[in-house]
Amino acid sequence: MKLWYAKASPFVRKVLIVAHERELIDKIELLNAAANVVDPDKGVITTNPTGKIPALVLEDGADARVATDTSETVLFDSRVICDYLDSIHDGKRLTPRSGSKRYEIMTLEALGDAIMDAAVGNRYETFLRPEDKRWDKWSEGQMLKVTNGLDRIEANWLKTLGRVPNMGSISVACALGYLDFRYSELNWRKGRKGLARWFKRFEQRGSYIATRHDS
Ligand code: BEZ
Repeated sequence: MKLWYAKASPFVRKVLIVAHERELIDKIELLNAAANVVDPDKGVITTNPTGKIPALVLEDGADARVATDTSETVLFDSRVICDYLDSIHDGKRLTPRSGSKRYEIMTLEALGDAIMDAAVGNRYETFLRPEDKRWDKWSEGQMLKVTNGLDRIEANWLKTLGRVPNMGSISVACALGYLDFRYSELNWRKGRKGLARWFKRFEQRGSYIATRHDS
């Protein structure tokens, strides 16, 4: 399999952590994408028309069929790719196949993804957009999504995060890792002791260390 990737993307990191956790990483070849929202990588566009990463190109004969410009079999976005990787190993599923736990974990994954979406969106606004075109109110709105999301996780989701990784906890770990990488001044641990304690353990996992944004 080939994965279009950029080291700074928390959504790519999510896929890579799943691949490490389920011992699939050696089956994935990394294709470096020039991460540029204004002018997306042409190679990525042949795989994903929106130019967004991560995008996974499957081996011929894999049992997923998606029409592309190149007749390759491709998967995107990170949720779809993670779900696919979770379906091709023999270990315990990161998202249970059925039952109420399935929807609990999927909802936590969606919350982690939404925090990442807001944080990445605001990074584009405050770093890439020309200074005279920036809109502070929009930025504040994005960061409110981040802090509200973190507060809700602290209040309601610590039990679901648990000690054994699941698809929700991996997404949340990627969101927190991205905040440490791009928003260290946010000091997200302040007032969120439970989440900080949980993350301290997660940060020590081999899968997390191997996928650091700054390595
Ligand atoms: C970043 O530089 O923060 C970034 C790059 C690619 C995707 C998402 C975020």
